[in-house]
Amino acid sequence: MRVLVTGAGGFVGPHLRRALQAAGAEVLGLGLHLHEGGIDIVADVTDATATAAAVAKVKPDAVVHLAGLSSVAECSKDPMRAFQINASGALSVVQAVLAAKSPCRVLLVSSGEVYGAAAGTGPMNEQVLPDPMNVYGATKRAGEIIALQHRHQGLDVMIARPFNHIGPGQTPTFVLPSFAQQLAAVHRGGKVTLEVGNLSAVRDFSHVQDIVDSYVLMLSKGKAGEIYNLGSGVGRTIESMLQLLVAQSGREVTVKVDPKRLRPVEIPTLIGDVQKLKALGWAPSRTVESALGEILEEMESRAR
Ligand code: GDD
Repeated sequence: MRVLVTGAGGFVGPHLRRALQAAGAEVLGLGLHLHEGGIDIVADVTDATATAAAVAKVKPDAVVHLAGLSSVAECSKDPMRAFQINASGALSVVQAVLAAKSPCRVLLVSSGEVYGAAAGTGPMNEQVLPDPMNVYGATKRAGEIIALQHRHQGLDVMIARPFNHIGPGQTPTFVLPSFAQQLAAVHRGGKVTLEVGNLSAVRDFSHVQDIVDSYVLMLSKGKAGEIYNLGSGVGRTIESMLQLLVAQSGREVTVKVDPKRLRPVEIPTLIGDVQKLKALGWAPSRTVESALGEILEEMESRAR
């Protein structure tokens, strides 16, 4: 099976490439710059012509559409750009696949953030009607709608809604690499004043490896036209994640809330019900503790 991965130079791309190759697939990475690594074809998904040319050239059996603006804060800073990348980008990809007129599955990577205000205090399944609370969630929901509409034109498309996933390669724009980077700036045994945002938010964290394994499983077992939550099904406060990280770090920490890190609108709790994914035969194989250890190691090696 030949798989085209968009956004291959981002955080998840290299993990997905390894997982697909381990499953015997040939992987071609699409991205913005060849020097990013893992990029075989340069094309911007907001450029419909370039995207169509890339898909026509590769003739993939499947496309995993990872490319997107993945930070909630960055999307709020520039909503128009966020829509161009996350929503118009999805449109370019599905149109490119249809235009290629050859059998090809599309796995559109959305986000658990689409549930927004519909998120209660416990795990939500895919029947819950999304109600995005921020620009990021809205752009991801728009991408889903665009992609699913194309199933009526014969597109074999599925939607993945991953919840928070962490591991090496994620940038300090996100919460745990940010905390790990601050810890790594002082030696083990030292004291750190750690700047944080809202520690009371509850999120569903997984090791990135478990999430990419779910994408691989969806490509072979997922049902066309369906939406799948991907996550652990377990809610953890950011504070409890910080404690796990600090315990592994061997540093003494004083926490200081930085108002710039607080979000104007925050979903208090976001947890996925992942029974539908489990019914495909999925089970997690990594712990969040191991992901935290890998993030810390990466940040420490950079700080040396
Ligand atoms: N970034 C950041 N920095 N977040 C902080 C901080 C901080 O210093 N302190 C607390 N937080 C809180 C945020 O307010 C949020 O509730 C939580 O930590 C996680 O924030 P992020 O790591 O920035 O991720 P996210 O939840 O906004 O989005 C991630 O998960 C989505 C799926 O649920 C991203 O990976 C998205 O791309 C993904 O779709």
